[in-house]
Amino acid sequence: MTATATSFRTLDNLDCAGKRVLLRADLNVPVREGAITDLTRIQRLAPTIRELAEKGARVIVVSHFDRPKGKRVPEMSLAPVRTALADVLGQPVHWADDCIGPDAEKAVASLKDGEVLVLENTRYHAGEEKNDPELARALAALADLYVNDAFSAAHRAHASTEGVARHLPAHAGRLMQAELEALTLALENPERPVAAVVGGAKISTKLDLIGNILAKVDVLIIGGAMANTFLAAKGVAVGRSLQEADMHDTARAIMAQAEARGCEILLPVDAVVAREFKAGADSETVGIDAVPADTMILDAGPLTVAHLTAKLASVRTLVWNGPLGAFEIAPFDVGTNSLARAVADLTTQGKLRSVAGGGDTVSALRHAGVVDQFSYVSTAGGAFLEWLEGKTLPGIQALAALGGVALPT
Ligand code: 3PG
Ligand code: MG
Repeated sequence: MTATATSFRTLDNLDCAGKRVLLRADLNVPVREGAITDLTRIQRLAPTIRELAEKGARVIVVSHFDRPKGKRVPEMSLAPVRTALADVLGQPVHWADDCIGPDAEKAVASLKDGEVLVLENTRYHAGEEKNDPELARALAALADLYVNDAFSAAHRAHASTEGVARHLPAHAGRLMQAELEALTLALENPERPVAAVVGGAKISTKLDLIGNILAKVDVLIIGGAMANTFLAAKGVAVGRSLQEADMHDTARAIMAQAEARGCEILLPVDAVVAREFKAGADSETVGIDAVPADTMILDAGPLTVAHLTAKLASVRTLVWNGPLGAFEIAPFDVGTNSLARAVADLTTQGKLRSVAGGGDTVSALRHAGVVDQFSYVSTAGGAFLEWLEGKTLPGIQALAALGGVALPT
């Protein structure tokens, strides 16, 4: 079974009044010095909780946080996230100090219809990452129904994402549903022509991804240091740029495969180069065949952005993963910002469906100020990548249900 042929039960027509619903969320939000730096995952989860609570469910939220590796690491407690969730929901959220056992059972037993409870980090138990059947059974015993809203953790076959779904009627939450619908429309059944932007540092980490999407897209835009490897493989001198010298054969094979499949690969035609990689470093823009030997390519140049923007004007669907340059450091964010802006404009004008995801990508788009103007920005990092690689995600497979609601085809 592939991820794409699957259908799911959603929350439509779910009778959950008075029922205990175990809601697998992804509360693994970014935290710096004890403070949550980005509430996106909590905000995107909130509608599912509200819908369940309004229908009279007793909502038991369960999630991992960070990687405590089976131990109670106090800095990895979900307690601060529970407070943030209560703020976002605008309603009190109960708490249990453990995700199974007497604390959890007591907290669940005292929940009333429409109330919300957060259980402590599932990864405090070693059984979570091992997908231990005992832990899965213990989690399932807390509830009558299971709702998975954690697309961003669906690439993990863990007790709370996979094992538990074997024991309870399983449904996709609204965020899970939105992620699956957006990805299906972007890559499985897109309006054509369809293009992908694949950026980032290394080809070696994105080989499976490129291999899978080559067969699905009409145009493949390669950006970031990864593009340097392709350019060097074509004999372009890239100076001191980051590149993978041992991947030249692979890059040439990818280009040959793309040509055979009628997929057009677009590489930078100009570049912003510098002698130092630091904020505000002296930089210059050069044609791609004129990169000085003592410089590094740190961003795509304006001609490249213009060329890509013109190309995207004739494309209907775009999947974006990875930045075009070293966007964390000005002025090397200009290429990514400008192309992101162009995609946002085409999207706003109704000419393009744009779907983006994967760790760095979301920060790059946030930096460019366009997150709200893309058709869909995934909350997922690794799970988004694995989907682009064509893998079946265990958390999704566990939700598959005959008679469920099929994804758009
Ligand atoms: C994520 O943030 O990517 C998900 O929550 C999964 O976390 P993990 O990579 O620690 O499994
Ligand atoms: Mg991760």
